[in-house]
Amino acid sequence: MAKIVSIVGARPQFIKLAPFSRALKLKEDVLHIIVHTGQHYDYNMAKLFFDELGIPSPDYHLGVGSGSHGEQTAEMLKGVEAVLTRESPGVVVVFGDTNSTIAGALAAAKLHIPVAHIEAGLRSYNRKMPEEINRVLADHCSDLLLCPTENAVNNLKIEGFRHVVNNGKLVRNTANVRHEGALVVNVGDIMYDSFLLALEIALEKSDFIERSGLVRGQYYLATVHRAENTDDTARLKAILQGLSRIGANKRVVFPVHPRTRKIIESIPEEYGAGIDLIDPVGYFDMIMLEKNACGILTDSGGIQKEAYFCGVPCITLRDETEWEETVDAGCNVLAGADADKILECSTAMERKIKTSEKFFGEGNTSAIAVELIRKVKN
Ligand code: UD1
Ligand code: UDP
Repeated sequence: MAKIVSIVGARPQFIKLAPFSRALKLKEDVLHIIVHTGQHYDYNMAKLFFDELGIPSPDYHLGVGSGSHGEQTAEMLKGVEAVLTRESPGVVVVFGDTNSTIAGALAAAKLHIPVAHIEAGLRSYNRKMPEEINRVLADHCSDLLLCPTENAVNNLKIEGFRHVVNNGKLVRNTANVRHEGALVVNVGDIMYDSFLLALEIALEKSDFIERSGLVRGQYYLATVHRAENTDDTARLKAILQGLSRIGANKRVVFPVHPRTRKIIESIPEEYGAGIDLIDPVGYFDMIMLEKNACGILTDSGGIQKEAYFCGVPCITLRDETEWEETVDAGCNVLAGADADKILECSTAMERKIKTSEKFFGEGNTSAIAVELIRKVKN
């Protein structure tokens, strides 16, 4: 029986794990072990997603919690190493670009256990982002790099990965050869699977819009949690000012990440005027909030893509994005942390957008990933 260990810890990773664990459940010859690092721990940042999305309870919960990068990653490394030594799996799967991702990939690579990275190859080329460090290092520890887009594949080719599956054919990229064994494949975006799986249930089950007294198409949805925006008070104030100005004409609903909540509470209230600050919501309610918004303002990676899936214009509160294809398609615009620009972009984006291009695959990424991961040999 093949043993696969998945390592997760943060909200978007639970959402990515949902379709993956479901696809693995269909394989009788696979034992799937889930390790939760405990990076996120509030009910509405963690367990809520296991409950809502029917993800099996973690086999191991490391209870690491919050801390500085070094402290948190070190605790995770220790915990993951102990689990992997005990379980000795055939392959370890990591998702995205959080501290849980790099801890999982590094612990496994040092134990000579093959690593599969789901959402490989993304780059912002901004090394000040903790996520950029995590994703570059995780990719370079990985044996199977499962990319969500063609852009991601190209980023890896530039970094010297040469075994690339193109349209099912293994071709050699001869530039800067470094990675003898690692295999790069575009499998589509697993978050598209998550979204499609949840959309039907959300449409049926979630009455969040009605309960909140929101009018469909008459409000904006906002989220902010990136370190570059929350740890820089000037940027956060400018973003809140931009949202407040939008809020003077239309409701702005803002489910607040706990990291951001703590900082907003230390900023004068005038900056949050006209914004509906609410607690983080579950995935079904979030999808309904996204689908019915007239625009989405966010610095989240996942939410930029969900805006695209929903056909709702996105205003990204960052200076660069890993999801360039959505910008090129005219569905996403970079407003940075400039109050005037945020207001300007929201007005300019108030129109229907066309999202016919399938940049993110067909919604069958989990099934493709499972087949590839099962073939990984040490
Ligand atoms: C992490 C990821 C980020 C990802 C995000 C998803 C890293 C470096 N960053 O950022 O890439 O986009 O998750 O949401 O891994 N907190 C709570 N309760 C919780 C979780 C966090 O109160 O359940 C607060 C704590 O004060 C903590 C802070 O949020 O110090 C930051 O949490 P942390 O997990 O370190 O980073 P995120 O900002 O959540
Ligand atoms: N999300 C959610 N409830 C919220 C905010 C976000 O369910 O209150 C979901 C969102 O729909 C997306 C994922 O969380 O699927 C994105 O996570 P986050 O923005 O925390 O991280 P990122 O994608 O930037 O790493």
